[in-house]
Amino acid sequence: MTDNNPAKPDTLLTHAGSHPDQNHGAVNPPVYRVSTVVFPTVAAMKEGEKHPFDHMRYGRQGTPTTFAFEEAVTALDGGFGALATCSGQAAIATTLGGLLTSGDHALISDSVYHPTRRLCSEHLARCGVEIEYYDPLIGAGIEALIKPNTKLIYIESPGSLSFEIQDVPAIAKAAGARGVLVVMDNTWATGLFFDAFKHGVDISVQAATKFLSGHSDAMLGVISCKSQEVWTRLKNYMSYAGIAAGSEEVYLSLRGMRTLAVRLRQHQESGLKVARWLQERPEVARVIHPALPGSPGHEIWKRDFTGACGLFAVELKPCPQEAVHAMIDSLAYFGLGFSWGGFESLILPTTGAIHRSATQWRPDGPTLRLHIGLENADDLIADLAQGLERLAIG
Ligand SMILES: Cc1ncc(COP(=O)(O)O)c(C=O)c1O
Repeated sequence: MTDNNPAKPDTLLTHAGSHPDQNHGAVNPPVYRVSTVVFPTVAAMKEGEKHPFDHMRYGRQGTPTTFAFEEAVTALDGGFGALATCSGQAAIATTLGGLLTSGDHALISDSVYHPTRRLCSEHLARCGVEIEYYDPLIGAGIEALIKPNTKLIYIESPGSLSFEIQDVPAIAKAAGARGVLVVMDNTWATGLFFDAFKHGVDISVQAATKFLSGHSDAMLGVISCKSQEVWTRLKNYMSYAGIAAGSEEVYLSLRGMRTLAVRLRQHQESGLKVARWLQERPEVARVIHPALPGSPGHEIWKRDFTGACGLFAVELKPCPQEAVHAMIDSLAYFGLGFSWGGFESLILPTTGAIHRSATQWRPDGPTLRLHIGLENADDLIADLAQGLERLAIG
């Protein structure tokens, strides 16, 4: 690969972070289990203190397995570098905790993942950070909310559970003009379907627990930083706060990344097939899927994203909650669970789970979140069909 002919994402995902020459020919870097690192001489130990983050110094600051995972994420996302954390939520808490301080103002999307909202409202606010929620569809209108003490704008696109696509370039333009950092939770699209840095984001956080790992067996987060300055600041903060990722988890996630492109394309294809089928069902009032016309921000999705995963929302026509629960309990292939992005399909009732303050989200009927996995889409459709028929609507 050359500058004139840069490698495509599939190629990057296949090779990034692989160093057989450094690992006895092994294609995947092994799991390095490390706490202490011994130095050959006092002089070597002292020399390392001058540049603590470019070599192995102590297990908490990462091992060659961690660095390989971070290298692969950086190859896909771009920017200066990535930082692995022990969960997606740790990536978010590290970024917000490491960048915000008492007296700062932070603008947070109203459709943010609920634990992020609680982190902001209950913890950061208690530490003196002024938290203000904004309408996820605000776009360039964010400019009017920026104050002299605004330090950071937090985006999650699409929004958790309600799936609004945000106008990231418009928000980033307003932020950039006032020296405000833009942080985005890019877990839904990953760097494969949304190039966060190209659209003006400064820090992209992901729950690597989900698509990067892809097999529902690892908890991991990652922070991609556009600049060296932010990377160094967060790396220091992680070191002092003791935030580190386990070697086994980074190994599993790097292994998952090798198949990210093929998995995501299948999630996309099956997800759209199921979503379009649901749109035709008499029990369904609305399917909210960023890649379908009519979903909030769909035109922006078409402009900025290169794909969609298989996670979307369904609003049913009004019916009793007990009927919905019985329908969910009847499903053979959809597990009832929270952490999407694995190979298996999931369903989650979300009625009443959406907390807003700057905007309203009050659907008339019960709502569900679906994660379409890698099963055959026709089997999933047949499973949903027998479940929906129990609702006796239409
Ligand atoms: C959008 C989003 N961001 C972050 C997280 C947190 O990730 P983790 O469960 O790895 O802490 C989640 C988890 O569901 C999520 O949905």
